[in-house]
Amino acid sequence: PDSAEVGPDGALRIGGCSLADLAAQHGTPLFVYDEDHLRARCREAVAAFGDGVAYATKAFLCRAMARLAHEEGMHLDVATLGEMHVALSAGVPPERLVLHGNNKSSLELSAARQAGVGRIVVDSDDELDRLERLHAADELRPRVLLRVTPGVEAHTHEFVRTGQDDSKFGFTLSTGAAADAVARCRGSAAVDLVGIHFHIGSQVFVADFFRQAVEVVAPWVNDLGLPELSVGGGAGVAYVAGEAAPTIAEWGEAVRAACREAGITARVTAEPGRAIVAGAAVTVYTVGTVKRLPGIRTYVAVDGGMSDNPRPVLYGSGYETVLVRAPRADRTHHVTVVGKHCESGDLLVRDALVPEDLAVDDLLVTPVTGAYGHSMGSNYNKVLRPAVVFASGGRARVVVRRETPDDLLATDVG
Ligand code: LLP
Repeated sequence: PDSAEVGPDGALRIGGCSLADLAAQHGTPLFVYDEDHLRARCREAVAAFGDGVAYATKAFLCRAMARLAHEEGMHLDVATLGEMHVALSAGVPPERLVLHGNNKSSLELSAARQAGVGRIVVDSDDELDRLERLHAADELRPRVLLRVTPGVEAHTHEFVRTGQDDSKFGFTLSTGAAADAVARCRGSAAVDLVGIHFHIGSQVFVADFFRQAVEVVAPWVNDLGLPELSVGGGAGVAYVAGEAAPTIAEWGEAVRAACREAGITARVTAEPGRAIVAGAAVTVYTVGTVKRLPGIRTYVAVDGGMSDNPRPVLYGSGYETVLVRAPRADRTHHVTVVGKHCESGDLLVRDALVPEDLAVDDLLVTPVTGAYGHSMGSNYNKVLRPAVVFASGGRARVVVRRETPDDLLATDVG
């Protein structure tokens, strides 16, 4: 795992903290983030793109994370009223926020305008209608970027591919819709158009897709003479052995080189999410049952599952597994790691390799679970959402406490 170390006892540690101790203290499932790793990735992003680069909070958000990204000089990309609320309540200044969304409500737009968010990324004509109606009432004039689809198909999972023409997001470049939207913004008192935005998709490994998108938008962006271009997020990370992803620095260098070659004079920014947080965390589970089906398969069931990591079910995503007590043991046994939910699709790792002596009560870790696990988690089967711990220099602090059964009733007013 990216952020893990092996302690003198041969067991797994994060941020200098024994995972066995953390599990004993806080229970499992448990998300443990290496705080130094998070800070290092934020710094790498700021070094790669300069001021203006935003952390995409959808990947993982709580107040501690919002504060950390802000302290390290990042802006924050929020995509809903909820994400905006968490960021603001963490003390992030509104002008450091960028509001996204393909279907922002009047309420979301109004809250963002009243708060004074730094940028609203306008996604549709209907949204411009809403902004104009709001302007008529209060005359506020937010700075906006226009989101365009450059018509580039990145090779990533269909569900997270967003740069192609056939997309629910943004204004299409090839049909002229984007040019019309620019003209509309320029003629409207309701918005102050400062730039163009695209986001080609997520978990993108190949820098060339960014180059292609930059090449497509460059002539247009250069003609417009707008001061900003955001290339969105999407830098991929390695989840399993054998995968190789570019670092944030390499991604930034590739994007900047593409922009240089295309003669882009606008200030180039980006909004990585996954690349900031994925490798910083592991999820610690306790093994509860081992079901051996001779000649068929062995099921290892842990105390979480699709409610804390829906990515394997949604995208068929792969993960490694490591035993906390023996991270370096030979992993010779093929098993399927499943969760505790009431459906067969509740898989965490379809083909996991584990040491032969794996047993009930062992602590099992899935590394690289810092992105889109906690944030896409659920209370399915009324499970309690896990706690989140930040570890650094041998000290750990709880930043999100584990839910209690009464939390499940907090909104139940019947
Ligand atoms: N900017 C925009 C406009 C986005 O839509 C996204 C992600 C990002 C930035 C950040 O992308 P990242 O750097 O994290 O790839 N749930 C999926 C990923 C969905 C990504 C949605 N948008 C997953 O677990 O793989």
